[in-house]
Amino acid sequence: MIGKRSSQKTAKTEEPDNTAGPQHVAIIMDGNGRWAQKKGKIRTFGHKAGVESVRAGVRFARRAGIKSLTLFAFSSENWKRPEEEVSVLMELFNLVLNSEAKRLHKNGVRLKVIGDVEAFDSKLVDKIRKAEAMTADNHDLVLNIAANYGGRWDIVNAAQSVAQSVAEGELNISDINENIFNRYTSTADLPELDLLIRTGGEHRISNFLLWQCAYAELYFTDVLWPDFNEDVFQQAVDDYKIRQRRFGLTGEQVTTASR
Ligand code: IPE
Ligand code: IPE
Ligand code: MG
Repeated sequence: MIGKRSSQKTAKTEEPDNTAGPQHVAIIMDGNGRWAQKKGKIRTFGHKAGVESVRAGVRFARRAGIKSLTLFAFSSENWKRPEEEVSVLMELFNLVLNSEAKRLHKNGVRLKVIGDVEAFDSKLVDKIRKAEAMTADNHDLVLNIAANYGGRWDIVNAAQSVAQSVAEGELNISDINENIFNRYTSTADLPELDLLIRTGGEHRISNFLLWQCAYAELYFTDVLWPDFNEDVFQQAVDDYKIRQRRFGLTGEQVTTASR
């Protein structure tokens, strides 16, 4: 496993610097189709099995004190998949909202959906808005589901809103900086992204949180999403904890500052 290998290397050569653990973790939940095909089943069988891994991820995040968990559930490019697969995914989203929203609420989880949600069926949009409203005052964990989400969409959408604010006289062009721009992105209220995990063996971002990834630590595992569990999540967090995040500084500067 890539992550494990890199952790051993990091442990030997660098000083640990962020042992508190990540505040904001994002996961590209990949590998459902291959998991199902390996078992001789159709791809959608893997999507259904992946729901249990989502539950495990949320459980782990709450226990580990992670403040924000952002899951990539459906990309803006996933519409190009066979119609049948897209419709099963939409159905599944619906079912999961029905069965999980109350449980999340009971467990102090705030649910948010990020992405161009208005493209979904209006009943689904309604359900999403209701679940968001019901859980709006929960603070234990923010669970962001990225649905019809694209990193480029997020940036363009923010740019449009910034332009709108300028046009309405609420914002001066000269005041636009990274902090201000960030407030217009879909993750405005969340802590900086600390750790991005991708399951399924591919080493790419696939148009996920492009703006937010700037200084995130990346962790790739070959584990297919339906096989993801709390142990795999723990391995990723352990690996994160022994990395030295330098943000452009030298290793020595970071070590001195953390003393
Ligand atoms: C991720 O699994 C789930 C979605 C993209 C909705 P995939 O469906 O991409 O599974 P693989 O990568 O084809 O195995
Ligand atoms: C990324 O997975 C999107 C989600 C996990 C929802 P994909 O399977 O769509 O990514 P590519 O096509 O392999 O880059
Ligand atoms: Mg995939």
